[in-house]
Amino acid sequence: MIKAVRGMQDLQPNKKARFRRIEDQARKILGQYGYEEVGLPILETTGLFQRLVGGATDIVEKEMYTFLDRNEESLTLRPEGTAGLVRFVNEHGLAFNQTQKYWYCGPMFRYERPQKGRYRQFDQIGVECIGLAGPDIDAEVLLLSARLWESLGIADKVALELNTLGNVESRRAFSSGLVEYLTPFAAELDADSQRRLTTNPMRILDSKAPKTQEILANAPVLADYLDDESRQHFDGLCAILDAVGIAYQVNPRIVRGLDYYNRTVFEWVTTTLGSQGTVCGGGRYDGLVEQLGGKPTPCVGFALGLDRLALMFEDEATPSKVIDVYGVSVGEPAKIQLIRLAETLRSELGLAIEVHHGAGKLKSQMKRADSSGAQIALLLGEDELNEHSLSVRELRGEGGQVRVPQAEIVEYLRARFS
Ligand code: HAM
Repeated sequence: MIKAVRGMQDLQPNKKARFRRIEDQARKILGQYGYEEVGLPILETTGLFQRLVGGATDIVEKEMYTFLDRNEESLTLRPEGTAGLVRFVNEHGLAFNQTQKYWYCGPMFRYERPQKGRYRQFDQIGVECIGLAGPDIDAEVLLLSARLWESLGIADKVALELNTLGNVESRRAFSSGLVEYLTPFAAELDADSQRRLTTNPMRILDSKAPKTQEILANAPVLADYLDDESRQHFDGLCAILDAVGIAYQVNPRIVRGLDYYNRTVFEWVTTTLGSQGTVCGGGRYDGLVEQLGGKPTPCVGFALGLDRLALMFEDEATPSKVIDVYGVSVGEPAKIQLIRLAETLRSELGLAIEVHHGAGKLKSQMKRADSSGAQIALLLGEDELNEHSLSVRELRGEGGQVRVPQAEIVEYLRARFS
């Protein structure tokens, strides 16, 4: 038997329905804030991610699905959406002196160790705002994400953690300070952190190793190195969040796993999913557009993980189909007539009608009608066929069955479902 590739999940209808529910809410809310949806390629040139996500990040170092295509060009299945979006706005001249508010939804690929909430193909909804520098737009992306949690009924299960990384210079100074502090402890750090001491020191703050965490307790903090403008920006953001009633915790340990952030960074986390508790993350990336050859353009955005969010409703029955009417028939002529009538009912009334296909005695067809969740069954047997009528059986509540002339069935069902 050929099985799915490790870490790539099949989404059964009930799971897909949970993804869809999140996407539907997000689409509605993003529309309310004036964001437009874009569709971007899943494949990009490898250099895009090396350059924008950062050569020393885990993602680029060891998690990308990279291959040579038939033209010997190195391509990569996108591990995230921001780099592609920045390429898109640059390529189409959408970044300079304009404001753009975009969102996208689709699969991302990372060669990570699979576990609950962590997959090698996973879906993200990404939200990116191009061309605005103030803390008010940072607040907006947080507001709209908070509204999404509210609409999904999980507002009390997620918490916002916020940090500021300052500008490039303050990060560089902090990074040196961190290396200076950690170097004497190098031998006691976990292996990843030892490596990061030379490649990407700030990522050591993310380490889960207890000994490393213990050492970090007395390490310098970024706040001590922050430039004035970044501090003002952060204070401005906190003031707006306070004014609109969005609760947050300032967490100086949040540095994020991608290199492109500056100033505001944030994560929405839940304690209900074990170790993969970050359902959404993002921040400012004011340098990216320029890094790709465009004019300096401030940007902010985030991405949420649909797979993780969907796990939060696993106990909830999200219907994968909603059927109003189930049609059963006896004999070929009746079947053909039923198919015809069902088409009319779909066109005229917009009802969801499932016609029983394949073999089956009337009794077993009725069982299927019942388990379909339909409100009523339409029966077309020989008698009904001969007298140009249909039997309409109520499947829920009191039950009951009536004969309705075929010529009147549209009006009968219009009244029944009004
Ligand atoms: P990220 O933090 O790498 O950020 O990913 C965002 C979210 O995607 C995570 O919070 C998580 O919910 C989900 N996610 C990441 N990896 C996996 C995985 N292996 N399995 C399941 N879910 C996963 C970014 O991707 C940035 N592009 C976000 C951004 C947009 N920043 C600014 N704009």
